[in-house]
Amino acid sequence: MPALSPAPAPWWRPDVPTVPTLSTVPTLSTVPAAGPSTGVPAVVRTAEAFRQALEAARAGGATVGLVPTMGAMHAGHRSLIERAAAECEHVAVTIFVNPLQFSDPDDLDRYPRTFEADLEVCEAAGASTIFAPRVAELYPDWPDPPATRVTVAGLTELWEGASRPGHFDGVCTVVAALFALVGTCRAYFGQKDFQQLAVIRRMAADLHLPVDVVACPTVREPDGLALSSRNVRLSPPERAAATVLSRALAAARRAIAAGERRPAAVVAVMADVVAAEPLAWLDYAAAVDAADLSVPRSVQHPDEVRLLIAAEVGPVRLIDNCPARTPDD
Ligand code: PAJ
Repeated sequence: MPALSPAPAPWWRPDVPTVPTLSTVPTLSTVPAAGPSTGVPAVVRTAEAFRQALEAARAGGATVGLVPTMGAMHAGHRSLIERAAAECEHVAVTIFVNPLQFSDPDDLDRYPRTFEADLEVCEAAGASTIFAPRVAELYPDWPDPPATRVTVAGLTELWEGASRPGHFDGVCTVVAALFALVGTCRAYFGQKDFQQLAVIRRMAADLHLPVDVVACPTVREPDGLALSSRNVRLSPPERAAATVLSRALAAARRAIAAGERRPAAVVAVMADVVAAEPLAWLDYAAAVDAADLSVPRSVQHPDEVRLLIAAEVGPVRLIDNCPARTPDD
């Protein structure tokens, strides 16, 4: 195996000139402060009121941006709303902890809920309408699930789908419902959830939905940890250990930059980094074709390969990903 580059500097930091950079990737400190508020957003609770608000916005000539979330907002969510506000005249944010995408009831119960703070983030970032329905509004028969599910075959059987059976059906079913309510729009999703983004793109294309899916870069803490609503559940030692995901990705990128082309060897580099962290357990690491998430025979074209990782750190399951190489590597 080729020698690894000794440079340990993080790849996501645009201000470190000697290492591969993702100059467009914001960190907490580089995300611009929220722009001027455009006023207090309207909070709507019913599907019909949400549909009407957006129909009225479009009838008035506005372009519509949609940012679906489960709340517990952080700077990653904020960056999506700000991007939508920069590109669209009316921004709808949805806040809904979707029970259909959780298989573990404890995980659903423990999911952080910070509605008042979320409203402030939405307002400061330029949202116009917030849709925060109760579960019964979207799923009238709950706890019986809706009879209709949306399944994207193939893509959802891999990686996150293999580890969390049924998860993507839950995601697709709620996102399809939101797309149906919102109508023609640009919808903003984070690359942090790379597979989710790929699945939703595929769903929108297959169902000919009038939605332009926009991918937004992952926002990170200065030490590389990708922001996640689940990070608040990490104890201080677990928080320190959680950088293992971005450290593993960085090590894999260095191996590829040094000439490694065997997907299994790239995976082994990531696994070794995680194995050295006593508080972390690897779920999966992969070097995949960015288009269909399959494992290529070789990392022959690193620009088309994505590195994926999932690990448990203490009680919290975390995921991360990055390109195998960016053009300026
Ligand atoms: P949630 O985890 O709240 O994430 C909402 C959006 O924020 C997703 O598009 C996600 O990719 C993005 N996001 C999360 N962390 C980010 C980060 N560090 N940087 C940039 N973007 C980030 O993903 C969901 O909710 C749900 O599955 C949902 C799509 C709303 C369906 O229920």
